[in-house]
Amino acid sequence: MQTSNDIRAAFIDSFARNGHEVVPSSPLVPHNDPTLLFTNAGMVQFKNLFTGMETRPYKRAVTAQKCVRAGGKHNDLDNVGYTNRHHTFFEMLGNFSFGDYFKDVAIELAWRLVTDEFKIDPNRLIVTVYADDDEAHKIWKKVANLPESRLVRIATADNFWSMGDIGPCGPCTEIFYDHGPKLKGGPPGSGDEGDRYVEIWNLVFMQYDQTEDGKRVPLPRLSVDTGMGIERLAAVLQGVHDNYDTDVLRALVLASADLTRKPADGPQAVSHRVIADHLRATCFLIADGVLPSNEGRGYVLRRIMRRAMRHVHMLGAKDPVMWRLVPTLVSQMGQAYPELVRAQPLITETLRLEETRFRQTLDRGLKLLEEETGGLATGAPLAGEIAFKLYDTYGFPLDLTEDVLRGQGRKVEIAGFNAAMTRQKEEARRSWAGSGEQATERIWFEIRERVGPTEFLGYAHETAEGEVVAIVKDGREVDRLHDGDEAAVIANQTPFYGEAGGQQGDTGILVTEHGAEFTVSDTKRHAGDLFVHLGRMTKGGLKLGEIAELRVDGARRTRLRANHSATHLLHEALRRRLGPHVTQKGSLVAPDRLRFDFCHPKALTPGDIEAIETEVNARVRLNSDVTTRFMTPKEAVDQGAVALFGEKYGEEVRVVAMGGDERENFSVELCGGTHVRRSGDIGLFKIVGESAVASGVRRIEALTGQSAIDYMDDQERRLNEAAAALKVSPADVPARVAALIEERKKLERELSEARRQLAMSGGGTQAAPAFKDIGGIKFAGKILGEVPAKELKPMADEIKKQIGSGVIALASSAEGKASLVVAVTEDLTGQFDAVQLVRIGSEALGGKGGGGRPDMAQAGGPNVEALGQAIAAIEQAVGGASAAKPERPAAVASPRR
Ligand code: SER
Repeated sequence: MQTSNDIRAAFIDSFARNGHEVVPSSPLVPHNDPTLLFTNAGMVQFKNLFTGMETRPYKRAVTAQKCVRAGGKHNDLDNVGYTNRHHTFFEMLGNFSFGDYFKDVAIELAWRLVTDEFKIDPNRLIVTVYADDDEAHKIWKKVANLPESRLVRIATADNFWSMGDIGPCGPCTEIFYDHGPKLKGGPPGSGDEGDRYVEIWNLVFMQYDQTEDGKRVPLPRLSVDTGMGIERLAAVLQGVHDNYDTDVLRALVLASADLTRKPADGPQAVSHRVIADHLRATCFLIADGVLPSNEGRGYVLRRIMRRAMRHVHMLGAKDPVMWRLVPTLVSQMGQAYPELVRAQPLITETLRLEETRFRQTLDRGLKLLEEETGGLATGAPLAGEIAFKLYDTYGFPLDLTEDVLRGQGRKVEIAGFNAAMTRQKEEARRSWAGSGEQATERIWFEIRERVGPTEFLGYAHETAEGEVVAIVKDGREVDRLHDGDEAAVIANQTPFYGEAGGQQGDTGILVTEHGAEFTVSDTKRHAGDLFVHLGRMTKGGLKLGEIAELRVDGARRTRLRANHSATHLLHEALRRRLGPHVTQKGSLVAPDRLRFDFCHPKALTPGDIEAIETEVNARVRLNSDVTTRFMTPKEAVDQGAVALFGEKYGEEVRVVAMGGDERENFSVELCGGTHVRRSGDIGLFKIVGESAVASGVRRIEALTGQSAIDYMDDQERRLNEAAAALKVSPADVPARVAALIEERKKLERELSEARRQLAMSGGGTQAAPAFKDIGGIKFAGKILGEVPAKELKPMADEIKKQIGSGVIALASSAEGKASLVVAVTEDLTGQFDAVQLVRIGSEALGGKGGGGRPDMAQAGGPNVEALGQAIAAIEQAVGGASAAKPERPAAVASPRR
């Protein structure tokens, strides 16, 4: 059997022999296109070559490209599991010509490969061409001599391919394979889609660029982009008619059947297929740096994961299953895609965590869904709000709910769901629309095309001469600058580091031969390797073609270096302490601090932080050389380099190693940044913050060198101040503070007791007897001075006991606020209501109301001067009510309950 690995190799080999450059797959997250969610075809990484924005040293290329079609223009998610040939993740084999060959060669190469090398029976092949493409029709006649019945003209979008709403596009010709009459489905063009006739190869003749305003502009060069799903080709070559029966997917289906103990074929086949497909998408996306989240790309990943997890649940599995399938995938595809092997710990950890979490709500959500659909008529849709509730409360992505309802022949009432979702969606879109390189900034590509890449001299120099080769002011190219102009200046070479990999751009000054000065406030990179100095003419003017001396602010750069190197040591120390799943999610290297975000499911303990700090500082003190070397990506990975997921690597990568000794390496990373010469140059490393940035992502903030010393000096100064105030040595501060806190607690207890006794003894600030007799009612009204509000109630209770029967009113002030408590003994609650009385008093205090029960109520107010009036008002109310007959409802009596 030809395995998928054999097929991939044979395809690439064949085109390589025909002068095609073998280009590795680009990551699933496109770096050159902010308009795409995922790489969805082989041509994505070449987009700027087709439009002419970029050129490369080759004109023909061949790739095996990782693709995901879930979301966006090409979205196959809903069909996956239910057909023989739809996938979220798949591999696309393709050959490309950038203004080199066109239709004739493309068709001939394709036909020869399919019939001669792969030896597919030509009688089973059918070809479609775009309706008015006579040229392609003629070439096919000549090359393959197909009868009219197997050379079909198609006028629809099926034979016109575009990458997305914008971008390169053109008519295409497609090769179909006839799997034979055992299967249902009509020939291409019949509109009867089935499994019999399957498109295996699409040859696109790239002719136009679809622009945002809907126009199609001819491309500068006629080009070719072809795409052949390896899964479909494997089905043909392995003699099966179902992609899920080909080697890689079948291995996953069998592994799923094995783990869940449910037969691979039969009623549960759909679930195994969904699991197999979605597992691939999940693993490859995580390997390229996507993590499940609630927005953008991360949310598409989460949808894929949860859809599969629902099928795991349907198979009756009691424990998470997906993560246990990872080794099978790695054994099938890890050789062709080593990023899977590298990311295996992270993939495993992420899958296990997500499945464990989702299981907690999955059951309950399914039950709710069952209840809600139980009462619906056959085929009636599910209300949008219910679908939204499932989404919002139970974590059910809409497609998961739809997938459940599919079995019942039901749909979701989408309008209602969408209304509730609109806001979230917009947020999600915003979060990914801005990512990726600014390929749309045509001006930088144009300059890059004309002047070539900037030569970066900053690894070895902080000052260097350069020729001014382009100037951009207000978004347009200009040929001179005047005093005070804000602009971007590009030189043929520069020591200024352009912001990348988290390291901030350099600042400094550019001085011309004539003494004019341009102050550089930041340096960025555009179009990949064009270094752009941003700033202002601070003295004189500048002309295109002038030679200038470029001087980096060296002190700032020194601190940037220390922080960048410390970040590498931190990364490795984290991996060693927490595990290999720790991978970089983001980094900021500024002159005054560093910030490092990484995958880890929980907060670091103080012990972790101390151990990591100690490890980094030990590596700093080793003071070994930091080495940087250039090598191929493969050599780098062989050396144990920590690759940054989703990075776009050129022919050679720069590998930075540090912190080790003769015996072992410590940190080995691919990195283009600037670093210290020896680890000791970092001086000191101090972690100053640890926090969460997103679910599963932690952030560490740290300082190095003088900043770390300043920080620690600051802490020490505060400690010394505290020691001086406490009149002890700094070493005794903690014990002294603990003793003071204990003492304070004791004093508070004593004070409270003293106040209580004072109140009980009939004292208070106003000399008064323990109680007054008002018309036969005992009234104890007391002004207590500075007593906290919370102490009044227990005091009132105490007085109640003392006097046996009566009304008590206590007023106090504390921290600028007046407080009042009224208590009524149980026997008098028919006559007096504490709540009513306290409100009367509270009016005098300028308070609003008050509350409590008929026997105990509390109020407050701002007028601390009016404590006496408050008590007097209550006393008066008690007098008035006691004069009234108890049988008659008194003004202040509460109704009996
Ligand atoms: N871009 C075309 C496709 O995806 C051919 O590679 O089908």
